[in-house]
Amino acid sequence: MTVEQFPKDFLWGGAVAANQLEGAYNEDGKGWSVQDVTPHGGFGPITKEPTEDNMKLVGIDFYHRYKEDIKLFAEMGFKTFRTSIAWSRIFPNGDETEPNEAGLKFYDDLFDELLKYNIEPLVTLSHYETPLHLAKEYDGWVNRKMIGFYENYVRTVFTRYKGKVKYWLTFNEINSIIHAPFMSGGIATAPENLTQKDLYQAVHHELVASALATKIGHELMPEAQIGCMVLAMPTYPLTPNPDDVIAAMEAERKNYFFSDVHVRGVYPGYMKRFFRENAIELDFGPEDEELLKNTVDFISFSYYMSSTETADESKRVAGEGNILGGIPNPYLEASEWGWQIDPKGLRIVLNDFWDRYQKPLFIVENGLGANDKLITDEYGNKTVNDDYRIDYLNDHLVQVGEALKDGVEVMGYTTWGCIDLVSASTAELKKRYGFIYVDRYDDGTGTLERYKKKSFSWYKEVIETNGTSL
Ligand code: BG6
Repeated sequence: MTVEQFPKDFLWGGAVAANQLEGAYNEDGKGWSVQDVTPHGGFGPITKEPTEDNMKLVGIDFYHRYKEDIKLFAEMGFKTFRTSIAWSRIFPNGDETEPNEAGLKFYDDLFDELLKYNIEPLVTLSHYETPLHLAKEYDGWVNRKMIGFYENYVRTVFTRYKGKVKYWLTFNEINSIIHAPFMSGGIATAPENLTQKDLYQAVHHELVASALATKIGHELMPEAQIGCMVLAMPTYPLTPNPDDVIAAMEAERKNYFFSDVHVRGVYPGYMKRFFRENAIELDFGPEDEELLKNTVDFISFSYYMSSTETADESKRVAGEGNILGGIPNPYLEASEWGWQIDPKGLRIVLNDFWDRYQKPLFIVENGLGANDKLITDEYGNKTVNDDYRIDYLNDHLVQVGEALKDGVEVMGYTTWGCIDLVSASTAELKKRYGFIYVDRYDDGTGTLERYKKKSFSWYKEVIETNGTSL
C-alpha cells in the first residue's frame, strides 16, 4: 500500500487465550477448567480428570516464560496483546466469595510486563475456560446462578486491574455456545440431551451477564472500553435462488442475534419469531430487560472463513472448519485443516457490521493454522519459511485497508496465536499460528525453546510502517 490507510493509533498486535498457552494448570491454587478435561479439543470426549495426553496442561509454559515472550512481542512492535484471564486461577471453583490472591498476582505481573513495553493489554474475561466445578455442579450457563458467579469474578478483576487494563471483552465468541455448549458455555448436559429451551436460556444468561459486566465496568472504570466478541462468518447463498438467499440470511441471523443484543440492547424481532415458532419460552428476571440496555463500546470479532448456505437439502454437504462448519464454497481454497480462505470476506464482514451498527470494530482473531517445518538457515539459525502465513495475513490486511477506504472504523487487528499454542478445536500443537515457533510436539516432547519464523520480521515491518508495507 503506498498510501497510509491505517489510523495513527491503530492497535496492532497478537491474541492468545490463557488455557491454550499458560500451562501450569494446577499451580498456585488454580482450579480445573473445562479445558483441563477435554484432551482432544472442544468437540472431543470429556474425561473425569486431567489426563497426560492433554497438551493444554503444559501449553507452551507461558505461565513461567511470559517475560521472554513479551520481549519478543515488543520487538515486533506490538501496540496491544490480547489474552484472557483464566477464571479458575481467580476463583478455583467459581462459586467462592473470596478470590485466590496468587492468581490475581500472576495477572498483575503479566500486565505490568506488557505496560513496561507500552503494550496495551486487551483482556477476554471468559475464553472457553469456565471453572469445571461450575459445569459439574450447576450445568454451566443453563443455571441463572452463573450470572452472580460471573459478576463476582468480573467485579474482582475490574477492581484489581482498573489502572492497568483499558480494553475488555466479555465472552470469547459468545455465539459459539450453540455449537459447543460444554467448551463455550460450561454446559455439562450432553448436546443430545440438551433442550433448545435450556440452550437459549443459557444464551440469555450469558447476554445478561455480559451487559451486567459492561455496566459494572463502566461504573468502576470510566475510561474503559468494553466490547462483545463474536465469531464472524459471512454466509453467501450457494446460488441466486431467493430460497438460498433467505437460507443465507437466516444463517447470518443466528450470529447477528448476539451482536444485535449487545449493540442495540433488545432482542431482535427475528429471534422472537424463532422462539415463538419453536415454542421456546425464556425466563426473564425482573431486571433483565433494563440490564440488556447496557450496550457495548465496540464490537470485536474473530474471522477465519466465510461459508455458504442453501435451501436445497440435496446440495447440503458438511464442510470442515471452525466451530460453525458450513457448506464449502467452490470458489475458495482451504487450509490444511479444511478452513476455507477468503480475505475478501473480511472486507464484507467489516462493512456489514459497520453499516448495521456504526460502532468501532476490532478484529481480535485472524490467522492461518499450518503444520510448520523448523529448518536451520544458512547462518545456522533455526526458523520456519512461512511464506504461506505471510501471504494469508497480507491478503487479509489488504482487505482491512479496503474497508478503511470504504469508511469503516477499525480500532485494531490482533493475529490469532501470535506465538504457537494449543489448538482449541483439536488440542494439537502441530496446528501452528505463530510468528514465533515453540519447540514442543503433540507427543509431549520438545525443549520449549522459541524461534522466530520468517513472518516475525514481516509483521514487524507492517507495524513499523503502519501498514504501508503491505
Ligand atoms: C477461535 C477461538 O475459534 O479460533 C480460539 O477463539 C481458537 O480459541 C481459534 O484457537 C483457532 O481455532 P483452532 O481450533 O485452530 O485453535
